Amino acid sequence: MTDASSPALDMDKAFAFAFKVLGDITAAQMGTLNAIGDRLGLFDHLAQGPGTSAGFAQRAGINERYAREWLSAMACHGYVAYDAAAKEFSLSPEQAFCLADHDSPVYLTSLFSMAPTTWRNVDELTDAFRHGGGVPQERFGDEFWCGFERFTRTAFRNNLVRDWIPAMPEVDSTLRAGGAVADIGCGNGQALLFLAQGYPDATLVGYDNYAPAIAAANANAEAAGVADHVRFEVVDVTQGIPGTYDLITSFDVVHDMPHPRPAMSEIKRALNPGGTYFVLEFNLFGDLQRNIDHPMGIGAFGYSASTNYCMTQALAVGGEGTGTCMGEEKARELAEEAGFTQFRRIDFPHNPFNLFYEIRA
Ligand SMILES: C[S@@+](CC[C@H](N)C(=O)[O-])C[C@H]1O[C@@H](n2cnc3c(N)ncnc32)[C@H](O)[C@@H]1O
Repeated sequence: MTDASSPALDMDKAFAFAFKVLGDITAAQMGTLNAIGDRLGLFDHLAQGPGTSAGFAQRAGINERYAREWLSAMACHGYVAYDAAAKEFSLSPEQAFCLADHDSPVYLTSLFSMAPTTWRNVDELTDAFRHGGGVPQERFGDEFWCGFERFTRTAFRNNLVRDWIPAMPEVDSTLRAGGAVADIGCGNGQALLFLAQGYPDATLVGYDNYAPAIAAANANAEAAGVADHVRFEVVDVTQGIPGTYDLITSFDVVHDMPHPRPAMSEIKRALNPGGTYFVLEFNLFGDLQRNIDHPMGIGAFGYSASTNYCMTQALAVGGEGTGTCMGEEKARELAEEAGFTQFRRIDFPHNPFNLFYEIRA
């Protein structure tokens, strides 16, 4: 056993590493505080202006002692600013942009609401480590999916109609003239709701094999007043895609698909001549070393998201288990295998977290 006197041990490095581990333990503990902050809208209340713990507790309708401990943890963690003289807590503009502005392109509080579900599944996930298999999609539930929906919604709201579609000028003009679009793996439907507003003459349909997502998408379309213009249906696209389309999209779907190969073939078959398949995936590599050296340091985010959900729900139903770190090479391989011949990666400087592919027959 190595001890502090061992010549092989560099104590400075060991302590530096121990503090990194403690920082991660802190981040895990902060996870519950952030999830509760999201559930109770605490960041939103704080964004209304500075306040003492008592004033904040009253504003947020929570117990003062809990408010004080929550605010203190957040202040030590750098999520909340503290004015020691006035004993007031507040959010800086940058903190508010990330934690309380639900329309901001870097609104991330919604992702904290996915954590309670992943912890609830930890026994089942441990069993999968021991015996194989996985944790099926239906074990994730509403809080997880609403959190993911609120996260991806901000990118759709800020970029889909303004940047992404116009980067494909032919697609843009086809949709303006009333083209047909299918969003594959549409989840709770947010992408099509924004497309419906940006391209009012296009025909829009969303397909997902998860029935609760389609129910949520239809409810979202009703609430947004576009239900007469957008349709959502339960369809497993590996079994065939009804109709043909000028544009097929999939946002964060290919790496999740248990069986991406037949799905890609069906997508190719369902495109009209000259049609486009537009794909969004996480900005991760297929190669481990490149993810270790990732310029944005998001490699561990990718593999852990994959283990908690993406790979695991696919393995639960006997799928490939591609995983979140699919990378451009794998996307190219899948497209080529399905018979696509044109593959263009499009880079959007305001969307560093994602990779985008324009794929055509
Ligand atoms: C990570 S979610 C993305 C949801 C949505 N596109 C978004 O960005 O918010 C992946 C979605 O793909 C769907 N999916 C996976 N395989 C599918 C298949 N074979 N047919 C239809 N949908 C599928 C899942 O049910 C899930 O809703």
